[in-house]
Amino acid sequence: MTSTVSPAGPEAAAVPEYPMDRAAGCPFDPPPDLATAQRQGPLARVRLWDGSTPWLVTRYADQRTLLADPRLSADVERPGYPSSAPIQPGGSKIGFILMDDPEHARLRRMVTAPFTIKRIEALRPAVQGIVDRLIDEMLAGPKPVDLVEEFALPVPSLVICDLLGVPYTDHDFFQANSKVIIKRTATPEQRMTAMGNLTEYLDRLVGEKLENPGNDLLSGLTGRVKAGELTRQDAAQIGVLLLIAGHETTANMIALGTLALLEHPDQLALLRDTDDPKLVASAVEELLRYLHITHSGRRRVAVEDIELAGQTIRAGEGVILPNDIGNRDPDAFEHPDQLDVRRDARHHVAFGFGVHQCLGQPLARMELQVVYSTLYKRIPTLRLATDLDRIPFKHDGSVYGVYELPVTW
Ligand code: HEM
Repeated sequence: MTSTVSPAGPEAAAVPEYPMDRAAGCPFDPPPDLATAQRQGPLARVRLWDGSTPWLVTRYADQRTLLADPRLSADVERPGYPSSAPIQPGGSKIGFILMDDPEHARLRRMVTAPFTIKRIEALRPAVQGIVDRLIDEMLAGPKPVDLVEEFALPVPSLVICDLLGVPYTDHDFFQANSKVIIKRTATPEQRMTAMGNLTEYLDRLVGEKLENPGNDLLSGLTGRVKAGELTRQDAAQIGVLLLIAGHETTANMIALGTLALLEHPDQLALLRDTDDPKLVASAVEELLRYLHITHSGRRRVAVEDIELAGQTIRAGEGVILPNDIGNRDPDAFEHPDQLDVRRDARHHVAFGFGVHQCLGQPLARMELQVVYSTLYKRIPTLRLATDLDRIPFKHDGSVYGVYELPVTW
């Protein structure tokens, strides 16, 4: 195993460690030290697990500028890339998310059509059906329930399985493996095994669909394979990326969003008592901004020197753009630490920015709108079945959320 390590500067020991300790503050806020770094200036140095000292870009406007700058690369295997864990050459890329243009753009284009707003809106009634059925089952069963297990995870899992053409009956298998991939504390070997398992699984499905295509996204990709536009391996890799991204992220937003609303009953009441889809949509944007579940920062490496705020980010230096703190920048959002479902938060960077901006955002938005406009109306007395300080938060993951959310009504 090798890892990409940019040389630690002589000052490395004096530089704060990253990721910073989130557990030290309010569970819905970015780490207190990150907020301090933002107040102190637009650029700082941080120290990673391997001793390297990449740049930290603290402010919203700079983050957007840099995420749109082609002089920054998302290629995890480039020397200097500030990876969150040791990387395995040839084995660390999941689909196109860690690639640069033009190859990134070529592969992304193969799957943009199913994620257009029109195509996603057509799925809304089916998603509403899934949400209603899961709520019916919860109401009919014993309580308290773990909302993560019974609702937050099944909703996006069922939806992405249907979209991709992956059998939901295999959910125990793929959820267990994707959990390892996004766990920061997993060893490189554990992560490689989980990646291998998922890639093999998707490769087998792609093989089946090459023989017997259906009406789903993976079958669409096999058409590209047959036309010689895509290798079977690339098709399987894209499947892995969409399967992981499709359920882990939204599931965490459903559970953490519900917890945040339960802790802000005035905001929950606004959402529960409205029939206005605009207010629901704005609540979704605000919760995405306020919670920011992809909290470990967008990560890039400079391929040319870049001037920013009177400093030079040199070619080969790593750059971390933590959009959780970008979303709390007072220059971009008034009273940023307040959860206010009525504010216009659409310009948040919870879905990233630039060429890698989240492909699945129309789907994530629609699912969250259906969930947030249904769950609290149908279970108006929903409440936590334990104390907030007993909730296990995902401080060790690259996607933030809660492991369990015991609720009752
Ligand atoms: C609340 C839910 C979600 C959040 C907060 C989220 C967040 C993000 C972020 C921040 C990025 C940018 C990564 C970067 O710049 O390095 C991203 C990329 C991506 N997301 Fe999402 N995501 C969500 C849901 C989804 C869903 C439901 C899917 C698909 C079914 C999806 C698929 C992707 C893909 C394929 C990329 C890579 C895009 C590229 O590299 O061009 N995401 N997401």
